[in-house]
Amino acid sequence: MTVRLSVNVDHVATIREARKTNEPDPVTAALLAQMAMADGITVHLRSDRRHINERDLQIIKSTIIIPVTLEMAATDEMVNIALGQRPHVITLVPERPEEITTEGGLDVKTNFDNLGSQVEKLRQAGIKVCIFVNPDLEQIGESKRLGADMVEINTGIWADAPDKNKRWEIERIQKAIDYAVQVGLKATAGHGITYHNVSEILKIKGLYEMSIGHTIISRSVYVGIQQAVKEMKELIIAGVKAQIS
Ligand code: PXP
Repeated sequence: MTVRLSVNVDHVATIREARKTNEPDPVTAALLAQMAMADGITVHLRSDRRHINERDLQIIKSTIIIPVTLEMAATDEMVNIALGQRPHVITLVPERPEEITTEGGLDVKTNFDNLGSQVEKLRQAGIKVCIFVNPDLEQIGESKRLGADMVEINTGIWADAPDKNKRWEIERIQKAIDYAVQVGLKATAGHGITYHNVSEILKIKGLYEMSIGHTIISRSVYVGIQQAVKEMKELIIAGVKAQIS
């Protein structure tokens, strides 16, 4: 059993959008990541289109053969795009217009009715639904009640935590993943995972997939995207081996 790696190529598009031109192209990055044996590609379509746009999503979806995950807010606009493009997985995330990146997990409990109707539309179209949540058992239970297939546990709180809190935060993530698996949800993890901290995340058991973006695209500036993906894959394989030995 390994842990799958879905490579988020958003920040290739961030560089393109810095000049509003046509390079670098996240589609090329996705193809190269696939060649380097990424297990999936993730893109986040934001309402302000600050990086990925519909054209990127459409070409990635029609050319990439590994599963494509679309991260998006649970709005009618995004759900309509998702129904048209039919990615393999939709990860529903909260979105605040001025945020630099996703700031935390969805509050499924408070937004249950709206999320429920959007999840229903996506699942009826045969799209798997993942909910991005903090490592909070109540939110995971509500995600299951919502009809989700998967949860992505937010690792950002752990990644940003001071050293003295890291152990406690990782235990919270482990408990969250155990609970997700127990109620029948696939458990993925993402946000703030880097080459330097990934081995800690890989001590966690029960993880199906990790979604990693910024650190891989950053490294690819120096070593190229295929090498950057390969190095992350090697760390994952080593981490999984260490877990079972
Ligand atoms: N998961 C979610 C829900 C995200 O919003 C992001 C950032 O777009 C990631 C994972 C990837 O995080 P990072 O870029 O820190 O690897």
